[in-house]
Amino acid sequence: MTETQMQRNVAANLAIDPAAFDARIKRHEISVGIIGLGYVGLPLAIAFASKGMKVTGFDTDPSKIEWLKAGKSYIQHIPSEKVSAPVTQGILNATIDMALLTEMDAIIGLRSDAAHSTS
Ligand SMILES: NC(=O)c1ccc[n+]([C@@H]2O[C@H](COP(=O)([O-])OP(=O)(O)OC[C@H]3O[C@@H](n4cnc5c(N)ncnc54)[C@H](O)[C@@H]3O)[C@@H](O)[C@H]2O)c1
Repeated sequence: MTETQMQRNVAANLAIDPAAFDARIKRHEISVGIIGLGYVGLPLAIAFASKGMKVTGFDTDPSKIEWLKAGKSYIQHIPSEKVSAPVTQGILNATIDMALLTEMDAIIGLRSDAAHSTS
């Protein structure tokens, strides 16, 4: 099965029209949820937001959510301006409320590996 066929099958199971979904992506109309706002998740969230995509980051660590909502970075190599700009524009949001995942059009999971997590 090719990747396109696989995408069509997944879309069919979810009752999503792939062409319409693709068009919504191109128009930046989809909401992207990123679970886990660490070394991989936060830069990815910023990257989506920099392309005008509405992003909501989900994390179980409330301190990270507070930092992001205040427009501040907690990762040394990511300047706070990269966070504050999309937060101020309203295209980057962060929450611990996992119930909001149901409002996302696409979800990317980047939480810590539970099997290897020390936290
Ligand atoms: N960092 C890398 O270079 C790298 C490379 C390859 C793969 N990965 C994988 O990518 C994933 C993320 O890596 P990372 O370096 O960003 O980890 P990280 O520890 O920096 O960040 C993970 C984040 O997930 C959050 N988290 C933990 N459990 C959660 C849950 N149940 N729901 C929501 N958030 C939760 C943590 O609070 C943390 O902010 C891991 O699975 C890791 O194995 C990382």
